[in-house]
Amino acid sequence: MIIKSNIRDYSVTIEKDFNFISGLLKSENAFFVVDKIVFEIYKEKLFQSVPAENIFLIEALETNKTIETALEICEVMTSIPAKRNARLISFGGGIIQDITGFAANILYRGIHWTFVPTTLLAGCDSCIGGKTSLNYKKYKNLLGTFYPPDAIFICSEFFNTLSERDFKSGLGEVVKFNIMTGNQGLINIENNIDALLERDKEKLDEFVNQSILFKKDFIEKDEFDKGVRIHLNFAHTFAHAFETVSNYYIPHGTAVAMGMLVANRISLGRGLLEESIVIRIESVMKKIIDSDLLQTKLPIDNMIDAIRKDKKQTDSNLKCVLLSANMELNVYNDLRKEEAEQAITYVLQVLSK
Ligand SMILES: NC(=O)c1ccc[n+]([C@@H]2O[C@H](COP(=O)([O-])OP(=O)(O)OC[C@H]3O[C@@H](n4cnc5c(N)ncnc54)[C@H](O)[C@@H]3O)[C@@H](O)[C@H]2O)c1
Ligand SMILES: [Zn+2]
Repeated sequence: MIIKSNIRDYSVTIEKDFNFISGLLKSENAFFVVDKIVFEIYKEKLFQSVPAENIFLIEALETNKTIETALEICEVMTSIPAKRNARLISFGGGIIQDITGFAANILYRGIHWTFVPTTLLAGCDSCIGGKTSLNYKKYKNLLGTFYPPDAIFICSEFFNTLSERDFKSGLGEVVKFNIMTGNQGLINIENNIDALLERDKEKLDEFVNQSILFKKDFIEKDEFDKGVRIHLNFAHTFAHAFETVSNYYIPHGTAVAMGMLVANRISLGRGLLEESIVIRIESVMKKIIDSDLLQTKLPIDNMIDAIRKDKKQTDSNLKCVLLSANMELNVYNDLRKEEAEQAITYVLQVLSK
């Protein structure tokens, strides 16, 4: 599949097994950046032929998603003779993607970049869209650019070794895309959530492909996030707040799943969505949100502050994307503090049962 981009069109390939990797390892002028845990798990199987001087390992921690790490990659890449035709090939989840995308963008004003997502979240969602982000001091994703990889290879074999926490976080985004497609998407996810939780390979490939196709439409219409791409922000206004107040203890995709429940309770309160649909979505979500992630009490007052500080908020009115009649997505600019608080309280109660 080809994603159209103003920067340059790029390809996404869904691979059935690891055979494609030997081809990648033979790429000319290549330098590899790999998630440290991924390297540990797969070094014998996949990375044996890469010379140690052509590989850089990064621990996937938010505290490493910094300009310093990106600059370190730029520095180590000066060791290969190729300059603007150098190719950075990275393996990892969203953290490695964000760092390597930024580095590939700034080194020699832009080099070739191949990305192999190894988390479900990166495979079903973040690998396309071209956003790169770095944290700076206490500010999450403060720095960033648009720079897509020129080739993406998604292989769900990688998802077998993810922890339950990271796998379920990825499922949060998969479920989100399905709910965004309306009633048929909801039925589809209800029928398949158990197989997905068991990491059924065929189902994973099918749902990853669908998620990418769904997102592709929005990013091709509005790559630089000035218009319709705002719909992809469904659930994210609240998700970012859950991430912030939990100090990132709640992973991104799980926060999105929780954010979706908050959005739907607000829709229900406004008479936009039927209660039966809200309850059906909650039953699916309860399967992927582990209540032990919610053991510490989340301060709701701080959540409203976090929503206000979200970079998608452009004025004093709070903006959010909600499902309305027929499960259609609409942007609302009149979110009230009280209704958000009520919905958050309700959702935290539902999830702790
Ligand atoms: N650029 C974007 O468009 C975008 C979109 C969404 C999220 N993000 C960013 O992505 C990050 C979250 O990314 P993520 O959820 O993909 O996870 P991650 O990169 O934080 O990785 C999660 C954990 O999984 C481990 N891991 C990765 N692949 C593995 C594998 N195959 N087997 C075993 N363990 C593996 C990592 O070492 C890490 O411990 C956040 O920083 C978020 O801001 C970026
Ligand atoms: Zn997301």
